[in-house]
Amino acid sequence: MEIKKVGVAGCGLMGHGITQVSAEAGYEVVVTELDRERLDAGIGKISKQLGRAVEKGKLEQSDADAVLDRINPTLDQGEFADCDLVLEAITEDLDLKLDLWKQLSGIVKEGALFATNTSSLPVITQAATTDRPENFIGLHFFNPVQRMPLLEVIQSVASSPEAMAAGLAYGEKLNKTTVETKDKAGFIVNRLLVPYLLDGIRGLEEGIGSIEEIDLAMKAGAGHPMGPLTLADFVGLDTLDSIAGVMFDEFRERRFAAPPTLRKMVAAGFYGVKSGRGFYDYSGEKPVAVNPGL
Ligand SMILES: NC(=O)c1ccc[n+]([C@@H]2O[C@H](COP(=O)([O-])OP(=O)(O)OC[C@H]3O[C@@H](n4cnc5c(N)ncnc54)[C@H](O)[C@@H]3O)[C@@H](O)[C@H]2O)c1
Repeated sequence: MEIKKVGVAGCGLMGHGITQVSAEAGYEVVVTELDRERLDAGIGKISKQLGRAVEKGKLEQSDADAVLDRINPTLDQGEFADCDLVLEAITEDLDLKLDLWKQLSGIVKEGALFATNTSSLPVITQAATTDRPENFIGLHFFNPVQRMPLLEVIQSVASSPEAMAAGLAYGEKLNKTTVETKDKAGFIVNRLLVPYLLDGIRGLEEGIGSIEEIDLAMKAGAGHPMGPLTLADFVGLDTLDSIAGVMFDEFRERRFAAPPTLRKMVAAGFYGVKSGRGFYDYSGEKPVAVNPGL
């Protein structure tokens, strides 16, 4: 199963990054969106990053142009027909993903590999709605895709060894660090990271330290580049809450349960960096810790 042409559904935060790194690795890439505005916004981000690399002397203008030339942004899913790999990076909503796969099963050529970038939904549920569950794997990138080296390559109960081998080869061509894992909620990284972040919030609720003290302690004592409450703000408290919900449903263990403070902050619209307020207020020059009033 040789991959030459890649299709990416969704050109949001993750999709534009996957499109960019695939085109940089030499693949022809077809990328789709729901409307022209979002498609242009995603391609605009790629152009901007390539432009910055040229300004800094890290990339020749001709190479940046060649990367953009390899990308075909379109609103027509029919263009996925001759792709060797089609990867979805659309909104984390199972019904939307299932609809997409039903449509793509009738469009994409036989033998092509399908992959999902989901952070929390079971791979097999999506695979089972397609005409090729054995040719369906998880390819879980990390944000920002252009900078984070890891790619989790996920085998569902139905994925064939050939499909896994093709996914690993694609990841290696992107120069990613590939790690094989199984279709269990959270895979490897979120399985370990999510309970840790939730414990940071529970620690705050229990008064083991202030927001700044908990973050500082994990930076200075465990060598982490940022503390758990800062990291939770970066992940997005709404995203953390929804991943915790899926993991709790699967494992029924307290360590995966969203603490009340997280639930309440999400209800208040305090989503972290993206909304301007989470455990920190991001409206000023420097983030300032805001006690969520436990
Ligand atoms: N944000 C992260 O840190 C992160 C990390 C790893 C994986 N993921 C996963 O990646 C996926 C995308 O997340 P995101 O953060 O990029 O979300 P996002 O909201 O930034 O982008 C999703 C895009 O998909 C588009 N879309 C929706 N339905 C579509 C369809 N049928 N066809 C084409 N485009 C469609 C939306 O318009 C939107 O622009 C999710 O499954 C998420 O769980 C996210």
